Amino acid sequence: MEKPILIIDFGSQFTQLIARRVRQAGVFSQVLSHHANISEIRGTDPCGIILSGGPASLEEETAPGCDPAVFGLGVPVLGICYGMQLMAHTFGGLVARSEKREYGLRRAALDTGSALFSGLEAVCDCWNSHGFQVAALPPGFSKTASTDSCPIAGMENPKERLFGVQFHPEVTHSQQGMAILTRFVRDICGCAGNWRMENYAASAVEEIKAAAGNGTVLLGLSGGVDSAVAAALIHQAVGDRLRCVFVDHGFMRKGEPEMVREVFTRHFPVSLTAVDASARFYGKLKGVRDPEEKRRIIGHEFVSVFREEALKLGKLDHFAQGTIYPDVIESGAAPGSAVIKSHHNVGGLPRELGFTSLIEPLRTLFKDEVRDLGRVLGLPEEMVSRQPFPGPGLAIRTLGELTPEKVAVTRESDAILREEFVRSGFAKSASQFFTVNTDIRSVGVMGDGRSYDTAVAIRAVTTDDFMTADWARVPYELLAHISRRITNEVLGVNRVLLDVTTKPPASIEWE
Ligand code: XMP
Repeated sequence: MEKPILIIDFGSQFTQLIARRVRQAGVFSQVLSHHANISEIRGTDPCGIILSGGPASLEEETAPGCDPAVFGLGVPVLGICYGMQLMAHTFGGLVARSEKREYGLRRAALDTGSALFSGLEAVCDCWNSHGFQVAALPPGFSKTASTDSCPIAGMENPKERLFGVQFHPEVTHSQQGMAILTRFVRDICGCAGNWRMENYAASAVEEIKAAAGNGTVLLGLSGGVDSAVAAALIHQAVGDRLRCVFVDHGFMRKGEPEMVREVFTRHFPVSLTAVDASARFYGKLKGVRDPEEKRRIIGHEFVSVFREEALKLGKLDHFAQGTIYPDVIESGAAPGSAVIKSHHNVGGLPRELGFTSLIEPLRTLFKDEVRDLGRVLGLPEEMVSRQPFPGPGLAIRTLGELTPEKVAVTRESDAILREEFVRSGFAKSASQFFTVNTDIRSVGVMGDGRSYDTAVAIRAVTTDDFMTADWARVPYELLAHISRRITNEVLGVNRVLLDVTTKPPASIEWE
């Protein structure tokens, strides 16, 4: 296998993003903490090294460093932000507090005659986040980039194959960032660029085998992408020693519980416990109308059912979760530590059930990489490209008290909306879309008679991060078609509305 690019982490929030960009350039990458000693570093046999950024400044006594021998391994080294400052400091340059803290986009002038920037545009926007910068170059280095407030925004010593950038090429806002990283790993380090997600799958399977030994593994399937991909991957490593528990709370979308059962009995024959607990959930929710109360009851009941089913399986050895990198960030876990996904449905359960070891094979991957991995493993496209779906499911898209009949209206209308969005191609233009049973009844005419039936709302949004959102401009003809189908095909619906509210002030979900 091709040698990796080694990323030495100095605590930057972007370290995994660097790893991801290197993978995007078709090169295997490995991340080690700056605490790693030189023999561990040498042991990875890298073809190049990237020093990440980090929150510290070199003037602090506790500033993290690395063994200077890192620069003598005979492979190219690229320092990013703090990594560049550390490199400058190591070779006798001067690092000082910037007059103005640089944060956000800055226009940078690049020396396209330099080794790192050759072939690129000479001027581009670069993303910055630093209060210190290189004030004087170390001997043997030349300046390769500058911005208004950072005269030395890039440096290199091509003879020693040492490079530094003060800005963050790994962040998408940095124009040419990907080109810079590709130039480093492919041209300067000489990596062939033939790493693919298949390689990730193969090495993850080996790691899971080593972690699981001859033991059994418990994993909760939610119907979502992450747990499905984790299950498929772990199944490859341990076969039917993987025990999966799937709790159907009765608020899944049309066809989803069936798909989970089908995929994980036929395609990946794990040892599956699928429980239809819907009657129990509806029972607990009887008479409850308050949205927060509904969420609380569903969350609580989910954990109870999962716990009961897990206990029935007897003593198992390892607990697995489909935690992905953004979850690690959200839960504030330090890189490398095994903190359990705090917002996850079964958070807290592993310890309670007596597990000491946690297997999280997707911990370093981003969402789109998880989807790619799912494709590589052969999961159905429908499952792999599934949009975000809240844990409480259709229960928070069915306003007011929950009954199977009301949720059926939500489920059936949602299925029509999804089918038509996909068929028309509009699904690609919206980030998330669904219907809401508004729990409002209004008068209509059906045939020759009067109806007094439910109004269903269409919610379709565009967003990058789901923190803010715009309503999707769904074509009128498509809306007309969907409205016609819903009122014709879904029993008890005589009116269709369109939600034209941004977030904020509204949220994406209605409850
Ligand atoms: P809101 O409604 O807060 O939704 O604008 C933002 C995004 O979060 C999803 N969402 C949830 N996801 N559990 C989840 O895993 C939940 O309880 C939950 N509530 C909302 C929502 O679908 C949207 O993508």
